[in-house]
Amino acid sequence: MEGKKIYSQGGRGLKDRGAKEAMIRITRKVEFSAAHFYHNPKFSDGENRRIFGKCSNTNGHGHNYTLEVTIAGEPDPATGMVLDLKELKDILQREVVDRMDHKHLNYEVPELAGKIPTCENVATVIWGLLEPKIIQGRLDRVRLYESEDLFADCTAEKNGSGR
Ligand code: NI
Repeated sequence: MEGKKIYSQGGRGLKDRGAKEAMIRITRKVEFSAAHFYHNPKFSDGENRRIFGKCSNTNGHGHNYTLEVTIAGEPDPATGMVLDLKELKDILQREVVDRMDHKHLNYEVPELAGKIPTCENVATVIWGLLEPKIIQGRLDRVRLYESEDLFADCTAEKNGSGR
């Protein structure tokens, strides 16, 4: 890693040969509630029931989602921060909470139109919404919990921003 400090052989003091700051990952969490159901119009009713189980009930059901968004970068020496966390909070509010909180994901979120709103697909859509908005640092991971024991990760490696 570039941020590694270099110790002199004699062990007297440490030399910092123009080393950059250490790479840091910082995470902010936000919660929202939304409704959804799983249904593929290409499947028969029987197939929808078999594949999606109770989630196929087209009356829908709700989840309390927890979203963790991780930004990677080097802290600015002047501020000690990778990015302005207040600004990140505003971005999450604007791009995710305002768009999805207390909404029906099958009907009310244009970015999910035509997609089955699984945890995986919602995480992918959130990645697409956030990635262009992160100017300082880079988006490293979007982790979306649908419940305490289920979450999906969307990460930089697979999304072309592993700069
Ligand atoms: Ni569900």
